Amino acid sequence: MKYVFILVLLILAAAGGLMGFAVATRFVDNMTQTARVMPGERVFPMPPGVVPRGGELVLPKEQREAATKRPNPIKVSEASLAVGREHYETFCTPCHGPEAKGGVTGPVATKFIPTPDLTNAELQRQRTDGYWHSYIMVGGAVMPAYGEALSSQEAWHIVNYLRSLAQR
Ligand code: HEC
Repeated sequence: MKYVFILVLLILAAAGGLMGFAVATRFVDNMTQTARVMPGERVFPMPPGVVPRGGELVLPKEQREAATKRPNPIKVSEASLAVGREHYETFCTPCHGPEAKGGVTGPVATKFIPTPDLTNAELQRQRTDGYWHSYIMVGGAVMPAYGEALSSQEAWHIVNYLRSLAQR
């Protein structure tokens, strides 16, 4: 009788241990298997018509034509070029290169897709400020969007900076 009692006690202890183990592993798994988004891991397109607080309406890619006609609200000045240059160096050099010459002058472009020469006079003439602003904010054919990282104003400053690089 004594042995039966010890046996039952052992079985109970084993069952308890197993359940505890299951709870512990599930808890640990939960910590690693939840949906999480790391900064910079994914690009979330802004839903159409959304206006950021203190910002202005950003037209989606589908409305590029309307965006192309938007006038540049920021006058070219030393200050504007400096802001544009700073942001260009942060966000654009990896692909477009330090002088915006494109090709594989940007370190990432060698692994991605060679970029166009943005200083090209012909391209500069064909494109409006609004078109390039839209390109920066909502992205291009393969170029990622920078609407989350840059304000609309900052994108206009970058456009001004790109204009200053045009070959004559
Ligand atoms: C991940 C690489 C990458 C980054 C970073 C990048 N671009 Fe681009 N960009 C491209 C590629 C590739 C193209 C050409 C293909 C396309 O149109 O999508 C392009 C095209 C362009 C064009 C030409 C549009 C045209 O046809 O007139 C402009 C202007 C431009 N990028 C500006 C910028 C600016 C400004 C930044 C920084 C805010 C930037 N890009 C960041 C890859 C990049």
